[in-house]
Amino acid sequence: MSQKPSHVIAVYPGSFDPITNGHLDLIQRGSRLFDKLIVSILRNETKEPLFSVEERMEMLHEVVQAYPNVAVDSFNGLLVDHAAAHSAAVLLRGIRAISDYEYELQMTLMNRRLRPDIETVFMMANETYSFISSRLVKEVFDLGGNISGLVPPTVEARMRRMLSKSKRGA
Ligand code: PNS
Repeated sequence: MSQKPSHVIAVYPGSFDPITNGHLDLIQRGSRLFDKLIVSILRNETKEPLFSVEERMEMLHEVVQAYPNVAVDSFNGLLVDHAAAHSAAVLLRGIRAISDYEYELQMTLMNRRLRPDIETVFMMANETYSFISSRLVKEVFDLGGNISGLVPPTVEARMRRMLSKSKRGA
């Protein structure tokens, strides 16, 4: 068995399109647990995102400023290779409800098979945020609903700016 690293680096991967208060809660709690936490956005060309990777990175930078041991990055290809390139021993993921479990289990087992030395650590979402997902935030916003309290204020402001630009363009 390999030795416990003296400096534990964790990668918190995701799409973050956009970052929600649920993600931010996990980042805050993760930053207290690990020496360094890298929030990494998947560069997935097949998905049609609301925000570009660059915009999502900007928003992440804005909201993690308060946490000196939190960094922001993006990746292509296998998550475990990205984690290994950062010498990360941990992948951090959040679980909201039992419905998340199957998808997370599959990913964890696949990642473990690819790189058994990298451990996935789960944190239960704070109950205040356990119903929030990026997909639902976008849907509610699109349909004119109130998203304040669901995403950081800077993200809400960006979404509003995006909407008024598209209205002006229409
Ligand atoms: O926020 P999401 O969309 O649930 O995050 C999913 C993510 C980025 C963690 C997952 O899609 C991923 O790790 N993709 C990288 C490709 C990869 O490593 N696949 C094989 C292991 S599942």
